[in-house]
Amino acid sequence: MNELDTLVESARQSFLQAQTPADLENAKAQFLGKAGRITELMKGMAALSVEDKKTRGAAINIAKQAIEAALNDRRQALADAELQAQLKAEALDVTLPGRSANVGGLHPISLTLERVENIFGSMGFEVAQGPLNTPEDHPARSMHDTFYVEGGHLLRTHTSPMQIRHAVQHVKRYRNPLDAGQGMPEIRVIAPGRTYRVDSDATHSPMFHQCEGLWIGENVSFKDLKVVVTDFCRTFFESDDLVLRFRPSFFPFTEPSAEIDIQFQSGPLAGRWLEVGGSGQVHPNVVRNMGLDPEGFIGFAFGMGMDRFTMLRYGVNDLRLFFDGDVRFLSQFQ
Ligand code: DAH
Repeated sequence: MNELDTLVESARQSFLQAQTPADLENAKAQFLGKAGRITELMKGMAALSVEDKKTRGAAINIAKQAIEAALNDRRQALADAELQAQLKAEALDVTLPGRSANVGGLHPISLTLERVENIFGSMGFEVAQGPLNTPEDHPARSMHDTFYVEGGHLLRTHTSPMQIRHAVQHVKRYRNPLDAGQGMPEIRVIAPGRTYRVDSDATHSPMFHQCEGLWIGENVSFKDLKVVVTDFCRTFFESDDLVLRFRPSFFPFTEPSAEIDIQFQSGPLAGRWLEVGGSGQVHPNVVRNMGLDPEGFIGFAFGMGMDRFTMLRYGVNDLRLFFDGDVRFLSQFQ
């Protein structure tokens, strides 16, 4: 290999080593620049004869063209590499599944309330909404520990106050002062809503949901209570394989009073008694406070825990999941 071939080869090598266009321009200067090797060789011809100048000049020119060709190849290669890198960086995988926008839905407890309203609605119950405040002298204060707020009121600990609120309105609306209530449509109402107690564990939360029920008429018995609540539970859980137990208890507004327990006959909870609410025959004093004569009017009331119903229906074992706001949990109910 002669001196010129060696020069071309070393130019090719240093161009190949250049990894960026800037590196390549530096390398170019060493060979083709004003003070580069080719220029030096040209200058070195000054002392040669005319004949030698011709052959030497032609040889140097060939070497120069070879170096320029190598430079252009490398320029092209670097440009191609840059383009490839850019394409790779901006690559779109059109085979990836699309990202769907998250569509929200009703909260499981809202689904339960909707369901409860529909079922009781089909049994002729209207739906009442009530305020959250309970006056100072209400029995709620002695039955449950609760939150105290300023202004002589507290957040209601249960939905039972809705009984008297609704009944008084109902009686006022329909009562003919001359007939002492006769001709008045029966009171048949449910009142679902939020309630508050100082409680917090896997099965109790400081805010929870109840649904109150009240049926007052001239001839409404404890038997009707059992039928209504049993029908409701069987419809709610879509199962006839369900038995109820009315366990004697005490509430200040009913006499007699009973806790309502249910038991599934099959499935994961089979055989266990689960408390779902309280109930009883409305106390004569409450009937009187409604503005009715307890000799002529009688009925029952019940209050059920909607969070408990929701847990049982969906197999949720920790109540707190309902209030964590975790979309992974909530999206399972859509
Ligand atoms: N309010 C009661 C509670 O929260 C449940 C209850 C019991 C409601 C008896 C009633 C009833 O309407 O008659 O524990």
